[in-house]
Amino acid sequence: MSFAPQFSRQDIRHFLEGYAKAHPEDVLNVDEEISSDQDITGLVWTLAARGKHPLVICNKVSGIGSKVVTNLFGSRERVARMLDTDALGIHAAYQARTRKLLEPRMVASGPVCDVVESSNIDLATLPLLRHFATDRAPYITNGIIAADHPDTGAGNLSYHRSMLHSKTELATSLHSRGHLWRILQAASDANQPLRVAMVIGAHPLFMLAGSARLPMGVDERHVAGGLFGEPLEVVRTPKYGIAVPAHAEYVLEGVIDAKAHAEEGPFGEFTGYSSNRSTNNLFRVETLMRRRDAMLVDVVGGNSAEHLNLGRIPRESEMVEKLRERFPSVTAVHYPSSGTHFHAYVAMKQVRDGEARQVMLGLLGWDPYLKTVVAVDADVDITRDEEVLWALATHFQPHRDVLVIDGLPGSALDPSAGSTGTTSRMGLDATRGANFEGQRAQIAPEAMARAAAILARVTGTGKPA
Ligand SMILES: Cc1cc2nc3c(=O)[nH]c(=O)nc-3n(C[C@H](O)[C@H](O)[C@H](O)COP(=O)(O)O)c2cc1C
Repeated sequence: MSFAPQFSRQDIRHFLEGYAKAHPEDVLNVDEEISSDQDITGLVWTLAARGKHPLVICNKVSGIGSKVVTNLFGSRERVARMLDTDALGIHAAYQARTRKLLEPRMVASGPVCDVVESSNIDLATLPLLRHFATDRAPYITNGIIAADHPDTGAGNLSYHRSMLHSKTELATSLHSRGHLWRILQAASDANQPLRVAMVIGAHPLFMLAGSARLPMGVDERHVAGGLFGEPLEVVRTPKYGIAVPAHAEYVLEGVIDAKAHAEEGPFGEFTGYSSNRSTNNLFRVETLMRRRDAMLVDVVGGNSAEHLNLGRIPRESEMVEKLRERFPSVTAVHYPSSGTHFHAYVAMKQVRDGEARQVMLGLLGWDPYLKTVVAVDADVDITRDEEVLWALATHFQPHRDVLVIDGLPGSALDPSAGSTGTTSRMGLDATRGANFEGQRAQIAPEAMARAAAILARVTGTGKPA
């Protein structure tokens, strides 16, 4: 993709200008004034119901003195273009780029240092949107927290929904109990508050890196470098020296004290449910950094295509690679949107009895969120829910083809799971198996060709109806 020359390659403005030039049909500019209370979610939902997932730029949002960019990750085609590939190539491109981890490059300054405030901070001046009627308040949905482990120094990035608590405090949730949670425990064991910096709005490749789940100790800022194909340019935050993208829109620096709590939620989550399962952590903000004309880069919440794509593309990519390396019989893997983050379909050419079970166990063991995996034969189009359900209906015997494992950690946001996310996991083997006797009803290709010709004549268009 070509980008606009006046901004650095790592600047979201560079991406936006280049993208709008290359794909104007995929960018929706809204110039009329809209409300900060649910209008953006309403727009994205209405567009999605019409099968449309454009990048949305709202130039006037009441009460917000800046433009709002949202739905960047709403379509897989757009994510593919970010990685210079097509939708089918996303996993391979993501893996190829992120295999080359690159250390960030420290620079003296950058646009995020335009304005730096450490006194009289008022977080109410941040652009904040309310996404759902059921949300407790307006939320930051695109807050990526950078933190370094107090003992090892290993860095981490992860997203954490955040709600205004006071002029200088945000209430946030670490419910994924991922690496930030562990780093916070380490700081707490040493009787220290954890020093953190929240990045709000940066280049989409930085956003994608932020949602990666990596082995403990691998820093997502290095993944961002891999995705860019050059080191991420970072500046140090003034008080704690945390490395943050030099081209970010906003950065909030401060501390999370494991002992301090503030209630937040309910909030519309990726499950499609409004969730108040939260660790209710308190983030005390001590420095506010921003560009002079900072804009809000929002992430559409709930079970929007954007939230689901952003959360799962790095995970899917890793799982597909791992699975195919270990099980060459696997021909395709698909995480359907209907299953939020909890379902995956695997297509395979089974060469041994029981192989489907082994593949499903692999996926259920590796992916931290999956609850149900369905295995089907390679001729089933796993991008279509109805094809997978047909395979289940006709190839599957419950007494023989279900495997269930109980008492595993999963997502705390699954309303059917325990409050810390303890769940069971299930594999459904809908492959036909060696002794399957059915023969698929077929229509001869000649009859299909005749049908197309008949319909072309009947409708008088020269084209099939
Ligand atoms: C848009 C978005 C919002 C998220 N919000 C939260 C959140 O509020 N709390 C949380 O614990 N995890 C949240 N997550 C999940 C973690 O940020 C994500 O799984 C991350 O990869 C965990 O990183 P880690 O492996 O470094 O722990 C969110 C993910 C995305 C993509």
